[in-house]
Amino acid sequence: MSKKSTKQNDNDNDNKKAWSGVFTESMDRRVELFTESITFDYRLYEVDIRVSIAHARMLCDVGILSKAEFNAIEKGLREIKASFKSGKFEFHIDLEDIHMHIERALINKIGDVGRKLHTARSRNDQVATDLRLWIRESIDAVDSALVELQQAFIARCESDAGVILPAYTHTRRAQPVLAAHVWLAYCEKFERDRERLRECRKRVNVLSLGTAAAAGTSIPIDRNKTAEYLKFDSVAANSIDVSSDRDFVLDAAFCLVQIAIHTSTLAEEWILWSTAEFNFIKLPQSFCTGSSIMPQKLNPDTLELIRGKSARVIGNLQTLCVLTKGLPLAYNRDLQEDKQPIFDSFETIRSILMVAVPLVEKAELNHELIKKQLNYGYTDATTLMEFLILQGVPQRTAHEIVGKLVRMAMDLSEPLSNLSLKQFRSVYENFDNDVYKILGAESAISAMKSYGGTSPEQVDLQLQRWKKKLRR
Ligand code: ARG
Repeated sequence: MSKKSTKQNDNDNDNKKAWSGVFTESMDRRVELFTESITFDYRLYEVDIRVSIAHARMLCDVGILSKAEFNAIEKGLREIKASFKSGKFEFHIDLEDIHMHIERALINKIGDVGRKLHTARSRNDQVATDLRLWIRESIDAVDSALVELQQAFIARCESDAGVILPAYTHTRRAQPVLAAHVWLAYCEKFERDRERLRECRKRVNVLSLGTAAAAGTSIPIDRNKTAEYLKFDSVAANSIDVSSDRDFVLDAAFCLVQIAIHTSTLAEEWILWSTAEFNFIKLPQSFCTGSSIMPQKLNPDTLELIRGKSARVIGNLQTLCVLTKGLPLAYNRDLQEDKQPIFDSFETIRSILMVAVPLVEKAELNHELIKKQLNYGYTDATTLMEFLILQGVPQRTAHEIVGKLVRMAMDLSEPLSNLSLKQFRSVYENFDNDVYKILGAESAISAMKSYGGTSPEQVDLQLQRWKKKLRR
C-alpha cells in the first residue's frame, strides 16, 4: 500500500471525516498524509473485524442492537474481510486508519445500521484491543517456531552423538564438552524465551474494549461477554489505564529482543566456527551467498543477517520506551507510533526463525577435524587439577602444579598425556600411572558428573528430559 493511493470512495458522505461534525474547515491534505496510519496498520484488518463482530454480538446480547442489525453487521464485516483477502479492498489516505476504513466500508455496504457499530467504544480502546489480539497471535506463532528450533537442536544431539567440542571462555579453549551439551544450552536459552513469552501473553490477553475513550460508557454493555467471544482471559479494570498504556507492547518487544540476542549469539558462534581458521562446521551451500568479485567465496550471509537484524529488534524496544516515557494519561496520538516497531520486531523475529531452523537442521559438524584439534589446547588441565584436589592437594597448590606441567608440555609442543611419569613427578612426586587415565578429552568429559555438567550420563539425562518435554 502506498501513500499515493488517494482514490475517493463513491459514496456521497465519503469526503467527510467520521468526526467532522464540529469542524468548519476540512483537513489540510498535508496533515492527512502526515497523520495517516493505514499504510502500516492495515495489518490489523483481520483482528479489527473480529473485534467488531464480537463487539456487535455483545451489543445484540444486551439489546442495543436487534438480531437483524447484528446479522447485517456480521455479514457485512465478513464480506469486507473477504475483499481484504482477495486484495480487492480499496485504501484511502483520507480515511486515516484501519478502523475508519472498515467502518466506512461497512456503512457503504449496509447503510445506516453500520453507523451503530461504534456504539460504546472509541478507537482508543479498539486499537488497544486489536493490538492485543495481534500480539497474542504473533506470540503463539513465535512460540511454535521456537519449539521447532529446539527440536532441530535435539535432532542434532542424536546426529552429533559422542562428538566432543572444545568449550571456549574469552574465545580461548577452556574445557572439552559434548556437542550435545552445547545444543542443549541453546534449548535452555530458547526455553526461557518461551517462558517469557508465556508470561507476557498473560498480560497481553486482557480485554481493553468497552472502556471507550477514557472514562467508560453510560451504555449498559457486558464486557465479560466480549472477552469471552475474543478468548481474553480477563477484563481490564480501569478505563484510563487502558486508554493510556502500552506496557504490553513494550513487554512483547523485550521478549523479542532476548530472542534476537540469543539467535545472534548462535549466528556469531557459527560464523566463527565456519571460518577456514576453525573449520568446525560446514554451512549448507543453499544458505550461503557468493561474492561478485572473489570467485572462491562462500559467505555466511544468512548468519550475518540473523546477527545484523537483531539490531533493529533492539532498536524497536528503544523506540517504544522513548515513545511512551513522556506521555500524560490517557490516550495521546503519539501512541499510533507504537505499531511500526512492534510489527517490525515480530516480523523480523519470525523471519530470523524461518532461516535459523533449517540452518540448525542442515549444518554439519566436521567430526574428524574437531577430534584432531582436541589434542591441542590443554583442555584436560582442569580435570587434572581436580584429580589432584580429590587426592587431598589444596586447590591453589593443585592449580600451580598443573600450571607448571602445562608450561612444560607447551615448551615441548606435546599434549599433557605425552609427558612421561618422570616428567609428571618432577613437578609433583606423588603422581603415579593413574594420571594417564584422566588425561585426554574423553576422560575429561566423563569426569564432569556434577548436575548440569557435560559427562555423557548427565547430558543423556537432560536429553531425555528435553525429548519428553518437546514431544508434541
Ligand atoms: N490510529 C490510531 C492509533 O493507532 C487509532 C486511535 C485514534 N484515536 C483517536 N482518538 N484519534 O492510535
